[in-house]
Amino acid sequence: MTSEIPKIAPSHAPHSQYPMSRPRRLRRSPFVRNLVREHALGVNDLIYPVFVVESQAEECEIPAMPGIRRWSADNLVRHLAGAVELGIPAVAIFPVIDPSLKTPDGREAFNPNGLVPRTLVRLKKEFSQLGLISDVALDPYTSHGQDGICDDTGYILNDVTVDALARQSLVHAEAGADIVAPSDMMDGRVGVIRRALEERGFSETMILSYAAKYASAFYAPFREAVGSAKALAHADKKTYQMDPANSSEALREIALDIAEGADMVMVKPGLPYLDIICRAKDRFDVPIFAYNVSGEYAMIKAAAQAGFIDEKACVLEALLAFKRAGADAILTYHALDAARWMRQGLV
Ligand code: PBG
Repeated sequence: MTSEIPKIAPSHAPHSQYPMSRPRRLRRSPFVRNLVREHALGVNDLIYPVFVVESQAEECEIPAMPGIRRWSADNLVRHLAGAVELGIPAVAIFPVIDPSLKTPDGREAFNPNGLVPRTLVRLKKEFSQLGLISDVALDPYTSHGQDGICDDTGYILNDVTVDALARQSLVHAEAGADIVAPSDMMDGRVGVIRRALEERGFSETMILSYAAKYASAFYAPFREAVGSAKALAHADKKTYQMDPANSSEALREIALDIAEGADMVMVKPGLPYLDIICRAKDRFDVPIFAYNVSGEYAMIKAAAQAGFIDEKACVLEALLAFKRAGADAILTYHALDAARWMRQGLV
């Protein structure tokens, strides 16, 4: 006799706790929202990437990255004094190399008097507490813009490239890099770099491996910034950077780099790959860093400049999302703005 069964409103269905459970109670006032908040963003989570050039004449703003400039040494020091004052713990250094120094084998990468080693020496002297991260890859130095040395067909050769990366890492460590960060995606490079560092007495130099780095279109403004875009022309990096369709492969890459001696691992790009950060954090108990890359920065800036979104609110929400996904630290071009907004209590 189904007609005698009383109708139950969906909200009173047996599986619902309502009205005993009203999740909105925990959202009603700021004090309780503050008490139950699960994740927080702090200035200690931020790493600021900077582009360096030889001379003041080459300084300029990057068109697709409003607010981000190429800096020569003296102005970089002045600029970073502000970052240090804000409490930013570390910077990541990317060089813009004069085209006349670019070669097919990228040998300028391990010139001990090159732009990066000189910048490291200077920054170490000026800011003893600032963490210095140097990018290890050949793309700013190769005439073809690839991260490695090619054979006649244009295929990037793994093992000869790894040798060059180890030499580059030693030059950076010698100049004062606290962390070397291979961003090239060659196989086996973390192990070779770790051994080279140990053999030369750099046992304290850390390795931040770009372990899961995807062949992404979101790097375009960065390639303009370091000047590799023209060299690369229409070529891509798909034979070494990962396919955006893959996620389990990222876990294999990360496992290999940890086994080879990486101290921290990175997922890159950031926002479109939060699922990878989350899976990596669940699986591994090493620090996971995320790179909020140039194209992600450009999108927020462009939308904010058009008046479509509120820049502060979107930046802080996006950076918090990295923390929620499981990132321990975030490389972001928004670092200085975010630190300033956090100091003003806008979080
Ligand atoms: C290259 C390198 C890239 C970035 C960091 N290191 C670009 C690439 O792989 O082509 C991208 C960073 C960004 O887009 O902000 N070794």
